[in-house]
Amino acid sequence: QFTPRVFSGIQPSGGLTLGNYLGAITKFVSTQEAGTHETIYCMVDLHAITVPQEPDALRHNTRELCAGFLAAGIDPERSILINQSQVPEHAQLGWVFNCVARMGWMGRMTQWKDKAGKNAEAASLGLFAYPALMAADILIYHATHVPVGEDQKQHIELTRDIAAKFNHDYGVDFFPLTEPVIEGAATRVMSLRDGTKKMSKSDPVDGSRINLTDDADTIAKKFRKAKTDPDPLPGSVAGLEGRPDARNLVNIYAALEGRTVDAVLAEHEGAMFGHFKQALADLAVEKLSPISSEMARLMDDPAEIDRILARGAERAREITVPILERTYEIVGM
Ligand code: ADP
Ligand code: NA
Repeated sequence: QFTPRVFSGIQPSGGLTLGNYLGAITKFVSTQEAGTHETIYCMVDLHAITVPQEPDALRHNTRELCAGFLAAGIDPERSILINQSQVPEHAQLGWVFNCVARMGWMGRMTQWKDKAGKNAEAASLGLFAYPALMAADILIYHATHVPVGEDQKQHIELTRDIAAKFNHDYGVDFFPLTEPVIEGAATRVMSLRDGTKKMSKSDPVDGSRINLTDDADTIAKKFRKAKTDPDPLPGSVAGLEGRPDARNLVNIYAALEGRTVDAVLAEHEGAMFGHFKQALADLAVEKLSPISSEMARLMDDPAEIDRILARGAERAREITVPILERTYEIVGM
């Protein structure tokens, strides 16, 4: 009944990380290449402003994120590439979903609890409502699948709850129950300074993350200084038990090479970490430096990026306008 369609987004909240790249963007590209689904990829600027953003920085970061998508292999002809605020139906459906979702559901979101911290009273209302807007981002396309990192699993479950409640309340079968696609060796890339915390663009700890714009020396230095596990590499995954920092570096290596963790361990068994980190740095530089130089080239022509996004918004609205109209009709508007 529903066209196989993939939607996913990334916040332009400053710098793309290796976590975004391995957990999300490489999957966006492989889905586009597979040709099994229509693919829609989004810079979610409306989500970014749930926490304070400096206006010029937000504008810059949105273009830079778009350059990152393009440099990594998203083709704006084969995929629809958009910036969220330029497709107003996202926010319009988001409001409807604010009225479908329950306060209790939102209060249980672990990301809300993490980000609001102990001072929820001071958090923006948008930060609390964020997952309802995310559900709208997905469902305004009737997307059937969402490739994401593990940190987004709970939000996709909430998206299904919102779709199911809408369908039930209005006695329709209008919104699909979207499936998350969480696979590969790097569904959760961890901080290089603390293997128990996710690598994030908003982590202030110096050296905790690799940015796609880092130059070769910076990448090598960050891996060299990554938290080190003194033990040599084991022959199988079982030997990584209780070694989150070691496991993280091996996962990153496997994901960058597109191989399994077991295959990487078999090859490097018994190697000391200092040596492995050097191999990892070389591999990361080899994979990431073509992307960062292409990003820099694209950023020299921001008008071209703006044209690509304007064109993406036009194409997106061919899908979103009819779905919003039908939603309003169902609701009685
Ligand atoms: P961030 O947390 O870096 O601000 P976003 O919230 O914009 O990133 O997430 C964009 C995409 O990148 C999502 O699909 C998310 O699951 C994925 N992602 C973010 N951080 C990681 C990570 N450390 N490991 C794997 N995937 C990640
Ligand atoms: Na996130």
